[in-house]
Amino acid sequence: MESELNYNYKVVRQFAIATVVWGVVGMLVGVFIAAQLAWPALNFDIPWLTYGRLRPLHTNAVIFAFGISGLFATSYYVVQRTCQVRLFSDKLAAFTFWGWQAVIVLAAITLPMGYTRGKEYAELEWPISILIAVIWVVYAIVFFGTIFKRKVKHIYVANWFFGAYIIAVALLHIVNGMSMPASLTKSYSMYAGVQDAMIQWWYGHNAVGFILTAGYLGMVYYFIPKQAERPVYSYRLSIVHFWALIFTYMWAGPHHLHYTALPDWTQSLGMVFSLILLAPSWGGMINGMMTLSGAWHKLRTDPLLKFMIVSLSFYGMSTFEGPMMSVKTVNSLSHYTDWGIGHVHSGALGWVGFITMGSIYYLLPRLAGKREMWSMRLVETHFWVGTIGVVLYIAAMWIAGVMQGLMWRAVNPDGTLTYTFVEGVRATYPYYIVRFLGGSLYLSGMLIMAYNTFKTFSGGVFKDAPIPVLPKSGQAPASTTASAPVHA
Ligand code: HEM
Ligand code: HEM
Repeated sequence: MESELNYNYKVVRQFAIATVVWGVVGMLVGVFIAAQLAWPALNFDIPWLTYGRLRPLHTNAVIFAFGISGLFATSYYVVQRTCQVRLFSDKLAAFTFWGWQAVIVLAAITLPMGYTRGKEYAELEWPISILIAVIWVVYAIVFFGTIFKRKVKHIYVANWFFGAYIIAVALLHIVNGMSMPASLTKSYSMYAGVQDAMIQWWYGHNAVGFILTAGYLGMVYYFIPKQAERPVYSYRLSIVHFWALIFTYMWAGPHHLHYTALPDWTQSLGMVFSLILLAPSWGGMINGMMTLSGAWHKLRTDPLLKFMIVSLSFYGMSTFEGPMMSVKTVNSLSHYTDWGIGHVHSGALGWVGFITMGSIYYLLPRLAGKREMWSMRLVETHFWVGTIGVVLYIAAMWIAGVMQGLMWRAVNPDGTLTYTFVEGVRATYPYYIVRFLGGSLYLSGMLIMAYNTFKTFSGGVFKDAPIPVLPKSGQAPASTTASAPVHA
């Protein structure tokens, strides 16, 4: 069925399945390291099972394997449907799929072996890093090539967000990744000292901004209107939101380096831009939420919309919390504590996880030639198990984090510390156990999704969908234009 008359569903299907599989794997490692923090004996004195090696395996697996596979699947689907053409090149798209799986497997081998560049979220050693850069450039060719040959004049806003994410990640990855190889498995950053730190957190924060935010906003702007069967609340706001967000994110990185050797003015600049970031973030959240105007009743019965709308609530929550944590006085309490981990996972589990799950649930039956998932009750169960899991996880970390911060800074009247560090660690154990339970629930939800996916795909019909024929004018049918973006 590889014809210009059809959409390429094969690569979308492959990435959608990869999202589910890597979601299970990455979260399983997350639950395991959560257990290690509660019960350190689980390190078993085996080097490749130690917390220090498995932690980057978790972050790489959830962000790059689960998260980015979800973004590949949705961006390839959305760009074809909204441009009403087949992907630019089937072969190049297939290369991105197999290349990306190779990167994931290489990460899963090298990180437990202890090969790392030691830069958070950029740990993979130089040969893998170069492979990532090549795949990314090919991804850009496939995505923008599809936009270039589009039959619809208008470029729908979801593609703007996906496009920004693709360009920004190429820039961040290449600039931050510049290193000098010493051997095949060891390299040193080209930057030194505080410059290295600044470039690393320019990268780190924009990985949040462009992978964990802009990419998923692409999902918001396509899948929420589709599932709610309502046009985007305000198309104008979506454009303002886009430009404000991508301009502001680039400057906020220094909030990761408060009270360090970084010049003070740079830290303050990062803080101010982080505070400004609240506005575009909430603009986007409100735009997504209000898309449900007139369709709120659907939330009662539609578990996919529940995933999507609750994800936006977590987005709103974490983008309120982030600017607060960037205020230097607040950061002096929160930094180094589990508050940060709570913030990360309210974004990662609540926002990134839920919008991905909602969107992939939308795609799976369509990719298998079915009307809906094998069991909608299991989708609903997944939603509730996942939600309880997130709440337990983040509440435990918030309480633990504030407690740690207060214990570390408590002083006696004579100026000595009230608590030793070990007392702080001991006081945290109960919260680590609660986090482990919350994480296990969240993982159970993911296992339910994997089972439901397997059942939905059993006996499925795996065909590419036909591309509708457009009127001669080259204009999209009314339903695909800016004012009523409920797409084909
Ligand atoms: C079952 C679900 C999950 C569990 C139990 C879990 C658990 C953990 C644990 C224990 C840590 C280390 C915390 C520390 O060092 O104190 C961690 C770090 C992290 N996790 Fe997860 N995680 C889960 C899902 C996810 C997902 C889905 C994402 C992203 C989409 C994610 C992103 C991260 C990030 C970015 C960090 C590093 C945070 C930092 O350095 O501040 N996690 N996770
Ligand atoms: C307006 C938006 C946001 C702002 C201003 C913001 C701000 C912050 C601040 C101040 C920190 C703590 C830095 C430190 O003390 O070391 C942080 C950490 C973090 N945030 Fe956000 N945040 C925002 C949204 C998000 C979202 C939506 C996510 C999605 C998952 C996210 C993921 C993270 C991660 C992964 C870290 C940990 C980085 C690390 O140390 O490894 N943030 N953020």
